[in-house]
Amino acid sequence: MGQVRITETAIRDGHQSLLATRMRTEDMLPALERMDTIGYGSIECWGGATFDTAMRFLLEDPWERLREVKRRLKNTPTQMLLRGQNAVGYRHYADDVVLEFCERAVENGMDIFRIFDALNDTRNLETAFKGVQRAGGHVQGTLCYTTSPVHSVESFGALANRLVEMGADSLCIKDMAGLLSPVMAESLVTRIKADHPEVPLQLHCHDTSGYSEMAYLLAIRAGADAIDTAISPLAGGTSQPATETLVAALGEDEQNGTGIVLDDLVETADYFGGVRKRYWKHESNLLGVDAGVLRHQVPGGMISNLVGQLRDQGQEDKLSEVLEENARVRADLGYPPLVTPSSQIVGSQAVLNVLTGKRYGVVTKETRNLAQGLYGKTAEPIAKEVLDLILGDVPQIDHRPADDLEPELESAKKEIGDLAESPEDVLSFVMFPQPAKQFLEWRRDGGGPERELIAAVIGAMAVKEKPSASTRSNPGIQSTNAPGAEWRQFGRMRQMR
Ligand code: CO
Repeated sequence: MGQVRITETAIRDGHQSLLATRMRTEDMLPALERMDTIGYGSIECWGGATFDTAMRFLLEDPWERLREVKRRLKNTPTQMLLRGQNAVGYRHYADDVVLEFCERAVENGMDIFRIFDALNDTRNLETAFKGVQRAGGHVQGTLCYTTSPVHSVESFGALANRLVEMGADSLCIKDMAGLLSPVMAESLVTRIKADHPEVPLQLHCHDTSGYSEMAYLLAIRAGADAIDTAISPLAGGTSQPATETLVAALGEDEQNGTGIVLDDLVETADYFGGVRKRYWKHESNLLGVDAGVLRHQVPGGMISNLVGQLRDQGQEDKLSEVLEENARVRADLGYPPLVTPSSQIVGSQAVLNVLTGKRYGVVTKETRNLAQGLYGKTAEPIAKEVLDLILGDVPQIDHRPADDLEPELESAKKEIGDLAESPEDVLSFVMFPQPAKQFLEWRRDGGGPERELIAAVIGAMAVKEKPSASTRSNPGIQSTNAPGAEWRQFGRMRQMR
């Protein structure tokens, strides 16, 4: 079997999958020095949805999180998830933004970049590859796994070849939805390792369908070099399988196993067990095995979105019709993998097609953009009659979508002005204008406890004057007995913990 490296995902995908990405930096940091001694191949700690949620919901600076994590990881490489031309956001950014992002990420402490495109269009990976290579980071080229009549060992093998040609330092098979069956895992790994024996190959599976441990085992037997797992309190369900399970199954041996001692994981597991309890409000209700994925390949999260859209219209009884239409729309649109954003695009269009009774009678802007090629090339070209229905006379683009984008950094710098204190702040603003502005203003005003906390404390102090809860730097608070400076001090202490 040889050596198998473990990437620990607890502080990125673990809480993103199970706790709505809400874990605060202060709950991560105390675990890191111990984790750094365990012998992980890497620790995934940044990217994906964490960048957005740090500012939007936690009033945290994602860059500071990276620096603080890196400071504590002296032996273990850091790893992140990067959405190609979307960087850590949800639209295509201009090349200057992507290049600068990669450079600043390396500068702030990122080592390994797992870079993917939701449509597996490698043109959308070119700039991010270049940016990371130029900055001296490790490029992990990613295959987003999905199933369809046009996806096969052959097609994924060709994709892997292309990623290696582009200079990937390692490869990853990314199974977002838990669709990768054990047998398919074995076939894919066998194929890719035969073509590229010298390129390390990693698997990233979600346990959604219950396949993941079996897929890992057969993949490793077939020659995979690394797998992603989450420490047990943040494992299972829509997260990765448990680190302890795989360490126990594959063994502790350095040369012929994981190189991790099972007992060494106990403290980290105890720690995150305590952390998870504090986030009970953000627990998803999708625990255990989601057998629906095995039958119709649609993950539970997407089904609940569909049900929600139907309920709004009082048409919940149409769910099975919508699921069938969902499969047809996906086929019409060239079989995109069902992940963000394509799952929302396909699902919404399917609901509209069913509720209006006329297929593509009403077309969303996102469906039109996807058909036009603004997200990239789909696995299979979209048929002419579908294009006519969706686009009318508007032609498809045949080039890389970001070729149409003007540089964005200079104008963003002007727009955000003094609020940005660093190139990192400007990048945060370009990618998430509203949340970043809100965060940067809050920081300029000295930071401080969250709005709800302020309201609760003020309420408990029974001040006469009721402060309005509409802003954080709130004149109502200044006028109470608590001077602003004290609140700001409190905020700093809280952040330092
Ligand atoms: Co994932």
